[in-house]
Amino acid sequence: MSHPLFESFLLKNLPLKNRILMAPMTRCRAGANDVPTALMAEYYGQRATAGLIITEGAPVSPRGRGYLWTPGIYAPEQVSGWKGVAEAVHAAGGRIFAQIWHTGRVSHQSLQPDGMAPEGPTGTAAPDAYCFAFDENGNPANVPASPPRALDPAGIARIRDEFAQAACNAREAGLDGVEIHGANGYLFDQFMNSLVNSRNDAYGGSVENRCRLLLEVVDGVAGAIGAGRTGVRISPSGRFNAMPEDPEMEATVLYLAGELDRRGIAYLHINDQASFGLPAIPEGLIPKIRDRFRGPIILCGGYDATRARQAIDAGLADLVAFGVPYLANPDLPARLENGWPLNEARRESFYGGGEQGYTDYPAFPG
Ligand code: PHB
Repeated sequence: MSHPLFESFLLKNLPLKNRILMAPMTRCRAGANDVPTALMAEYYGQRATAGLIITEGAPVSPRGRGYLWTPGIYAPEQVSGWKGVAEAVHAAGGRIFAQIWHTGRVSHQSLQPDGMAPEGPTGTAAPDAYCFAFDENGNPANVPASPPRALDPAGIARIRDEFAQAACNAREAGLDGVEIHGANGYLFDQFMNSLVNSRNDAYGGSVENRCRLLLEVVDGVAGAIGAGRTGVRISPSGRFNAMPEDPEMEATVLYLAGELDRRGIAYLHINDQASFGLPAIPEGLIPKIRDRFRGPIILCGGYDATRARQAIDAGLADLVAFGVPYLANPDLPARLENGWPLNEARRESFYGGGEQGYTDYPAFPG
């Protein structure tokens, strides 16, 4: 059935063939030294049917890692790996942004250079957050996040540089742009939450201060590759990774939305963690965000074709991102448009492993 969801969309100066996006999803299949592999290129190439692919989170530095086998975007060999991914997607007629990521306090010493403590807004650990790292016997395991150390001014300056460099690396690899991961309890979300960020410098306290790091990073990235190739993802009211319910949430997200609007970024991507089995975004918040941010909005989190059409018809979303349905259905747009049945996702192969449960999901009628 014809609907704008299946029609082209101009994302700033980048034409997308439809409004169905592939959402970022950690798959933990990077190779040695966190280099993207040929198998990853095949996986993303198969999903070039999306108007835009947003990759799994790519750590911007060794310190930004929170999980084993996530593909980095800081070392030259990683950039070469991403070139293969970009080529596969472009050869199949798709578009692709890299999600650039720092997990902040949601990390483990065994993933950090020299076994150091992870870096976060403060020295307070996430009370009940888990990382995929090494246990005390050196075996890969889910382990509680390690107590972090508070970033000092030099650390904050380094993080700004790392994100700008990661954006340059993404473009050098031929990727079309980047999405800054400001969602889901990772570094920027930690800074923005008034109950997590108790800093008493320019990066903590007021709404402006708590949003400062993310906005400085946006400015650095946009300065490097252009605002039109810079997206931002948030998860307002999100509780994932042991984030507390923040009484300042609405004021914070509306301030952020206004500041991002002024900067003319490519899009604002809003993840609803209802699809993680967590509380949904409060009723009425999306229209308020929409009033402040007039650029393209992506909604994500448990959408099907009906809800996606409704979100676009209601003027709440310009684009809709699909996670689990996309990993299991490389031809998702055609399936949604034609009402074809969907492949069932195999959860046991979400994280780690090889081609099983990764590149072996067939296109319809398969
Ligand atoms: C995950 O690995 O489960 C994960 C990673 C990044 C997110 C959300 C979930 O933003």
